[in-house]
Amino acid sequence: MQELKIPTHVAIIMDGNGRWAKSKGMPRIMGHYKGAEVAEEITKASLDLGIKYLTLFAFSTENWNRPQDEVELLFDLMKNYLTEKKQQLLELGVRLRFIGRRDRISKDLRRLMENLERETSKDYKITVILAVDYGGRDDIIRAVNKIVRLEVKDIDEKTFSHFLDLGDIPDPDLLIRTAGEKRISNFLLWNLAYTELYFTDLCWPDFTKEELIKAIQDYSKRQRKFGRVLDE
Ligand code: IPE
Ligand code: IPE
Ligand code: MG
Repeated sequence: MQELKIPTHVAIIMDGNGRWAKSKGMPRIMGHYKGAEVAEEITKASLDLGIKYLTLFAFSTENWNRPQDEVELLFDLMKNYLTEKKQQLLELGVRLRFIGRRDRISKDLRRLMENLERETSKDYKITVILAVDYGGRDDIIRAVNKIVRLEVKDIDEKTFSHFLDLGDIPDPDLLIRTAGEKRISNFLLWNLAYTELYFTDLCWPDFTKEELIKAIQDYSKRQRKFGRVLDE
Protein backbone atom coordinates (compact mmCIF):
# COMPACT_ATOMS: atom_id res chain seq x y z
CA MET A 1 0.00 0.00 0.00
CA GLN A 2 1.09 3.50 -0.75
CA GLU A 3 2.65 5.47 2.07
CA LEU A 4 0.31 7.93 3.77
CA LYS A 5 1.43 11.51 3.22
CA ILE A 6 0.08 13.49 6.12
CA PRO A 7 -1.01 16.96 5.03
CA THR A 8 0.21 19.78 7.25
CA HIS A 9 -3.07 21.67 6.98
CA VAL A 10 -6.51 20.16 6.41
CA ALA A 11 -9.57 22.37 5.91
CA ILE A 12 -13.10 21.00 6.11
CA ILE A 13 -16.47 22.32 4.94
CA MET A 14 -18.64 20.41 7.39
CA ASP A 15 -21.87 20.19 5.38
CA GLY A 16 -25.05 18.12 5.57
CA ASN A 17 -26.06 18.42 9.23
CA GLY A 18 -29.59 19.45 8.26
CA ARG A 19 -30.05 16.68 5.71
CA TRP A 20 -28.71 14.10 8.15
CA ALA A 21 -31.25 15.17 10.78
CA LYS A 22 -34.08 15.27 8.25
CA SER A 23 -33.30 11.75 7.04
CA LYS A 24 -33.78 10.59 10.62
CA GLY A 25 -37.00 12.56 11.13
CA MET A 26 -35.31 14.94 13.58
CA PRO A 27 -35.14 18.76 13.69
CA ARG A 28 -32.13 20.32 11.90
CA ILE A 29 -30.53 21.41 15.16
CA MET A 30 -30.03 17.75 16.15
CA GLY A 31 -27.78 17.48 13.11
CA HIS A 32 -25.74 20.40 14.41
CA TYR A 33 -25.43 18.74 17.85
CA LYS A 34 -24.15 15.55 16.29
CA GLY A 35 -21.96 17.63 13.97
CA ALA A 36 -20.24 19.24 16.96
CA GLU A 37 -19.44 15.80 18.40
CA VAL A 38 -17.98 14.74 15.07
CA ALA A 39 -15.85 17.90 14.96
CA GLU A 40 -14.43 16.85 18.32
CA GLU A 41 -13.73 13.30 17.09
CA ILE A 42 -12.04 14.60 13.95
CA THR A 43 -9.92 16.97 16.02
CA LYS A 44 -8.64 14.01 18.07
CA ALA A 45 -8.10 11.94 14.93
CA SER A 46 -6.16 14.78 13.30
CA LEU A 47 -4.00 15.10 16.36
CA ASP A 48 -3.29 11.32 16.31
CA LEU A 49 -2.40 11.49 12.63
CA GLY A 50 0.04 14.34 13.15
CA ILE A 51 -1.87 17.02 11.23
CA LYS A 52 -0.63 20.43 12.41
CA TYR A 53 -3.51 22.69 11.37
CA LEU A 54 -7.19 21.80 11.08
CA THR A 55 -9.55 24.52 9.84
CA LEU A 56 -13.28 23.87 10.29
CA PHE A 57 -15.99 25.94 8.60
CA ALA A 58 -18.61 26.36 11.32
CA PHE A 59 -20.65 29.40 10.20
CA SER A 60 -20.44 31.44 7.00
CA THR A 61 -21.20 35.12 6.40
CA GLU A 62 -24.17 33.86 4.35
CA ASN A 63 -25.49 31.59 7.11
CA TRP A 64 -27.05 34.68 8.78
CA ASN A 65 -29.74 34.31 6.11
CA ARG A 66 -31.03 31.15 7.77
CA PRO A 67 -34.15 31.20 9.99
CA GLN A 68 -33.39 33.22 13.12
CA ASP A 69 -34.12 30.34 15.51
CA GLU A 70 -31.59 28.08 13.75
CA VAL A 71 -28.96 30.84 13.91
CA GLU A 72 -29.61 31.42 17.62
CA LEU A 73 -29.49 27.71 18.44
CA LEU A 74 -26.26 27.31 16.47
CA PHE A 75 -24.54 30.07 18.44
CA ASP A 76 -25.92 28.72 21.75
CA LEU A 77 -24.56 25.33 20.83
CA MET A 78 -21.16 26.79 19.97
CA LYS A 79 -21.00 28.73 23.23
CA ASN A 80 -22.00 25.79 25.42
CA TYR A 81 -19.73 23.38 23.61
CA LEU A 82 -16.67 25.59 23.81
CA THR A 83 -17.26 26.34 27.51
CA GLU A 84 -17.72 22.68 28.31
CA LYS A 85 -14.71 21.47 26.32
CA LYS A 86 -12.10 24.00 27.38
CA GLN A 87 -10.38 21.72 29.90
CA GLN A 88 -10.30 18.84 27.44
CA LEU A 89 -8.74 21.03 24.77
CA LEU A 90 -5.99 22.01 27.18
CA GLU A 91 -5.34 18.39 28.18
CA LEU A 92 -5.21 17.22 24.57
CA GLY A 93 -2.86 19.99 23.46
CA VAL A 94 -5.22 21.79 21.12
CA ARG A 95 -4.57 25.45 20.35
CA LEU A 96 -7.76 27.17 19.26
CA ARG A 97 -7.93 30.06 16.86
CA PHE A 98 -10.92 31.76 15.28
CA ILE A 99 -11.17 33.33 11.85
CA GLY A 100 -13.97 35.49 10.52
CA ARG A 101 -15.68 38.68 11.61
CA ARG A 102 -16.00 39.39 15.28
CA ASP A 103 -18.20 42.48 15.13
CA ARG A 104 -21.52 40.67 14.65
CA ILE A 105 -20.94 38.05 17.34
CA SER A 106 -22.44 38.44 20.82
CA LYS A 107 -20.18 39.97 23.42
CA ASP A 108 -20.11 36.89 25.67
CA LEU A 109 -19.18 34.53 22.83
CA ARG A 110 -16.53 37.00 21.67
CA ARG A 111 -15.06 37.08 25.17
CA LEU A 112 -15.07 33.29 25.30
CA MET A 113 -13.30 33.13 21.93
CA GLU A 114 -10.61 35.56 23.05
CA ASN A 115 -10.18 33.72 26.33
CA LEU A 116 -9.82 30.35 24.57
CA GLU A 117 -7.29 31.74 22.09
CA ARG A 118 -5.22 33.10 24.94
CA GLU A 119 -5.46 30.11 27.27
CA THR A 120 -4.78 27.43 24.66
CA SER A 121 -1.74 29.12 23.18
CA LYS A 122 0.92 27.18 25.12
CA ASP A 123 2.12 23.58 24.82
CA TYR A 124 0.00 22.50 21.89
CA LYS A 125 0.30 19.75 19.30
CA ILE A 126 -2.33 20.92 16.85
CA THR A 127 -3.93 24.25 15.94
CA VAL A 128 -7.65 24.05 15.32
CA ILE A 129 -9.00 27.06 13.47
CA LEU A 130 -12.74 27.59 13.71
CA ALA A 131 -14.24 29.72 10.95
CA VAL A 132 -17.17 31.59 12.50
CA ASP A 133 -18.97 34.37 10.58
CA TYR A 134 -16.31 33.73 7.97
CA GLY A 135 -16.51 34.56 4.26
CA GLY A 136 -13.59 34.44 1.84
CA ARG A 137 -14.64 37.69 0.17
CA ASP A 138 -15.13 39.42 3.51
CA ASP A 139 -11.66 38.21 4.59
CA ILE A 140 -10.12 39.76 1.46
CA ILE A 141 -11.98 43.05 1.91
CA ARG A 142 -10.94 43.30 5.57
CA ALA A 143 -7.33 42.63 4.53
CA VAL A 144 -7.53 45.39 1.90
CA ASN A 145 -8.84 47.80 4.52
CA LYS A 146 -5.86 47.03 6.76
CA ILE A 147 -3.27 47.07 3.99
CA VAL A 148 -4.14 50.50 2.54
CA ARG A 149 -1.81 52.12 5.06
CA LEU A 150 1.18 50.46 3.32
CA GLU A 151 2.94 51.85 0.28
CA VAL A 152 1.58 50.19 -2.85
CA LYS A 153 5.08 49.11 -3.84
CA ASP A 154 5.36 47.11 -0.59
CA ILE A 155 2.28 45.03 -1.30
CA ASP A 156 2.99 41.62 -2.74
CA GLU A 157 1.38 38.19 -2.31
CA LYS A 158 3.29 37.46 0.87
CA THR A 159 2.43 40.73 2.62
CA PHE A 160 -1.17 40.47 1.45
CA SER A 161 -1.51 36.92 2.87
CA HIS A 162 -0.19 38.19 6.16
CA PHE A 163 -3.21 40.51 6.49
CA LEU A 164 -5.73 37.74 5.83
CA ASP A 165 -7.31 35.89 8.75
CA LEU A 166 -5.08 32.83 8.40
CA GLY A 167 -2.11 35.18 8.44
CA ASP A 168 1.14 33.23 8.28
CA ILE A 169 -0.47 29.81 8.69
CA PRO A 170 0.44 27.72 5.64
CA ASP A 171 -2.27 27.31 2.99
CA PRO A 172 -4.45 24.20 3.34
CA ASP A 173 -2.98 21.15 1.57
CA LEU A 174 -6.29 19.30 1.52
CA LEU A 175 -9.88 20.56 1.52
CA ILE A 176 -12.64 18.09 2.38
CA ARG A 177 -16.31 18.85 1.76
CA THR A 178 -19.00 16.47 2.93
CA ALA A 179 -22.62 15.94 1.84
CA GLY A 180 -22.08 15.74 -1.92
CA GLU A 181 -21.93 19.45 -2.70
CA LYS A 182 -19.04 20.37 -4.99
CA ARG A 183 -18.48 24.04 -4.31
CA ILE A 184 -16.36 26.32 -2.16
CA SER A 185 -19.28 28.38 -0.73
CA ASN A 186 -17.09 31.43 -0.07
CA PHE A 187 -14.61 29.55 2.15
CA LEU A 188 -10.88 30.46 2.06
CA LEU A 189 -10.88 31.94 -1.45
CA TRP A 190 -7.30 33.19 -1.44
CA ASN A 191 -5.72 30.37 0.56
CA LEU A 192 -7.24 27.50 -1.46
CA ALA A 193 -5.42 28.50 -4.66
CA TYR A 194 -3.42 25.24 -4.85
CA THR A 195 -5.27 23.08 -2.34
CA GLU A 196 -6.20 19.51 -3.29
CA LEU A 197 -9.99 19.04 -3.17
CA TYR A 198 -11.79 15.96 -1.85
CA PHE A 199 -15.54 15.45 -1.87
CA THR A 200 -17.59 12.77 -0.16
CA ASP A 201 -21.34 12.11 -0.24
CA LEU A 202 -21.42 11.35 3.48
CA CYS A 203 -23.14 13.97 5.62
CA TRP A 204 -20.88 15.51 8.25
CA PRO A 205 -22.54 13.71 11.23
CA ASP A 206 -21.58 10.40 9.55
CA PHE A 207 -17.96 11.39 8.94
CA THR A 208 -15.38 9.35 10.89
CA LYS A 209 -11.66 8.94 11.46
CA GLU A 210 -11.67 6.14 8.85
CA GLU A 211 -13.20 8.53 6.32
CA LEU A 212 -10.54 11.10 7.14
CA ILE A 213 -7.87 8.48 6.52
CA LYS A 214 -9.57 7.60 3.22
CA ALA A 215 -9.37 11.26 2.17
CA ILE A 216 -5.68 11.35 3.13
CA GLN A 217 -5.03 8.14 1.19
CA ASP A 218 -6.57 9.78 -1.86
CA TYR A 219 -4.52 12.93 -1.25
CA SER A 220 -1.34 10.83 -0.95
CA LYS A 221 -1.79 9.67 -4.56
CA ARG A 222 -2.09 13.19 -5.95
CA GLN A 223 0.81 14.76 -7.74
CA ARG A 224 0.96 18.40 -6.74
CA LYS A 225 2.49 20.38 -9.57
CA PHE A 226 1.90 24.04 -8.69
CA GLY A 227 2.01 24.86 -12.39
CA ARG A 228 5.34 23.20 -13.05
CA VAL A 229 6.34 20.33 -15.32
CA LEU A 230 7.57 17.43 -13.20
CA ASP A 231 10.29 15.11 -14.43
CA GLU A 232 8.83 11.88 -15.81
C1 IPE B 1 -23.57 22.44 7.78
O1 IPE B 1 -24.75 21.74 7.65
C2 IPE B 1 -23.54 23.29 9.03
C3 IPE B 1 -23.67 24.75 8.80
C4 IPE B 1 -23.70 25.33 7.65
C5 IPE B 1 -23.80 25.57 9.99
P1 IPE B 1 -26.06 22.40 6.99
O2 IPE B 1 -26.86 23.02 8.07
O3 IPE B 1 -25.68 23.28 5.87
O4 IPE B 1 -26.79 21.11 6.45
P2 IPE B 1 -27.60 20.98 5.08
O5 IPE B 1 -26.66 21.39 3.98
O6 IPE B 1 -28.78 21.90 5.19
O7 IPE B 1 -27.98 19.55 5.02
C1 IPE C 1 -21.05 26.09 3.93
O1 IPE C 1 -22.19 25.30 3.96
C2 IPE C 1 -20.85 26.75 5.26
C3 IPE C 1 -20.53 25.87 6.38
C4 IPE C 1 -20.29 24.60 6.34
C5 IPE C 1 -20.43 26.54 7.66
P1 IPE C 1 -23.60 25.84 3.43
O2 IPE C 1 -24.56 24.74 3.64
O3 IPE C 1 -23.92 27.13 4.07
O4 IPE C 1 -23.30 26.09 1.88
P2 IPE C 1 -24.29 26.16 0.64
O5 IPE C 1 -25.40 27.10 1.02
O6 IPE C 1 -24.81 24.77 0.41
O7 IPE C 1 -23.45 26.62 -0.49
MG1 MG D 1 -25.40 22.99 3.86
